[in-house]
Amino acid sequence: MSIAVFASGSGSNFKNIVLRSRVEAWGRAVRLLICDQPNAKVLQLAQELQVTAYLIEPSSYPSKKAYEKAILEILQEHGIEWVILAGYMRLVGTTLLQAFPKRIVNIHPSLLPAFPGLNAIEKAFLHPVKVTGVTIHFVDEGMDTGPILAQVPVSISEIDTLETLVDKIHQAEHNLYPTIIKQLIETETKWRRKEH
Ligand code: GAR
Repeated sequence: MSIAVFASGSGSNFKNIVLRSRVEAWGRAVRLLICDQPNAKVLQLAQELQVTAYLIEPSSYPSKKAYEKAILEILQEHGIEWVILAGYMRLVGTTLLQAFPKRIVNIHPSLLPAFPGLNAIEKAFLHPVKVTGVTIHFVDEGMDTGPILAQVPVSISEIDTLETLVDKIHQAEHNLYPTIIKQLIETETKWRRKEH
């Protein structure tokens, strides 16, 4: 049983999660990367880290349901039990949500419910607010709306530029996301032991 990461872009969170899971010897390994973008840098990272990667493009399928069914088959073949979204820029549909209830987790670069959707870091910077941050939450049908698992604030100072803010947010993400994933896995393992 193991973890699949879904990503669409540069993959810094993917890389960080894989490395932390290995260094800290989590009870669950990152077995798969699912990517929807053919030119995403994360595909290259998966190769370097020797994580099996599948490029699954929605345009190759007649419907969202068919696209997600194809993903689901792969997840089931590989015994995946946790789905970790790390910059996966697509709404998860009912096919995957029903197959993984409370087992799909997302990271979003703002203090939700502020600034949901795309370009959240830029929106906070331009708004402007003094504090933004990072949210980790379970995924539901909505756009960045599921139950919140953890949040960490990131302050925006007078001297921050969008670039420095992006760096600060990524640092906060890289600290928080693996910590929360590890906690979820450990909590689940404890419950399973109690049940037996
Ligand atoms: C991260 O900042 C993540 O929070 C964001 O995409 C970035 C991916 O970076 N996700 C969203 O905005 C989801 N709504 P990465 O590819 O370097 O991990």
